[in-house]
Amino acid sequence: MSVSIKNQQDIEKMRIAGRLASEVLDYITPYVVHGVTTNQLDKLCHDYIVDVQKAIPAPLNYAPGGHKPYPKSICTSINQQICHGVPSDKALKNGDIVNVDITVIKDGYHGDTSRMFCVGTPTVQAKRLCDITYQAMWIGISKVKTGATLGDIGYAIQTFAEKNGYSVVREFCGHGIGKNFHEDPQVLHYGKAGAGLKLQAGMMFTIEPMINAGKRDIKQMPDGWTIVTKDRSLSAQWEHTILVTETGYEVMTLSAGSPPTPEFV
Ligand code: MF3
Ligand code: CO
Ligand code: CO
Repeated sequence: MSVSIKNQQDIEKMRIAGRLASEVLDYITPYVVHGVTTNQLDKLCHDYIVDVQKAIPAPLNYAPGGHKPYPKSICTSINQQICHGVPSDKALKNGDIVNVDITVIKDGYHGDTSRMFCVGTPTVQAKRLCDITYQAMWIGISKVKTGATLGDIGYAIQTFAEKNGYSVVREFCGHGIGKNFHEDPQVLHYGKAGAGLKLQAGMMFTIEPMINAGKRDIKQMPDGWTIVTKDRSLSAQWEHTILVTETGYEVMTLSAGSPPTPEFV
């Protein structure tokens, strides 16, 4: 395992890529309504990234080992879909919750971020899952500083999610990021405090917990990409790209439309 340490030039470019990824989420927000298809959201985001941002949508044709090329420019994961939902001609409907996950490449560097959206009025249960998952991500982020460990992050997220009656997906995790979409280290969203890699200033990785309302078990759909909960319970996810600094962390993927940081951070 080799975890790269970003230099000042890398960091400056990651700030730009990260902000752009977040700005795609700002841009798409008013379109996430009853009746829109996820293919329409994909086309809007694709055109915005390519034509306005002069950037590249990283998911399009992405083909990590063992996978066929991903066919779209964004991921849209609805209700019981955990992650890597492939946009389609199916329309969103009132009460749906949907994760939109954006990764852009700008000047050779990746920015990766996702948010949950509620279509119309969510159920109390769906809203609570989205809120707790957002807090879980921030609880993980708030552990990041030089000298802390990856286990500290995973432990904080897992204990918070489970205390609230939810489960943490194990098969997918956060990841190092930079010139590559996915690099070392793997950032598990569960674990033991004090265990795992010790964080150093200049490390860059995502924190992107997937939290299920029911059991943690997953299933892959026949499309080869979409991951769903085995028990069909709702799942939520939020994601930021984070830099480890001497005193704590810097979030790369913030923009004008980012939801407020929780009070406890
Ligand atoms: N953006 C996802 C992540 O957070 C990865 C999507 S890979 C794709 O790591 F091919 F499905 F787009
Ligand atoms: Co990611
Ligand atoms: Co992502």
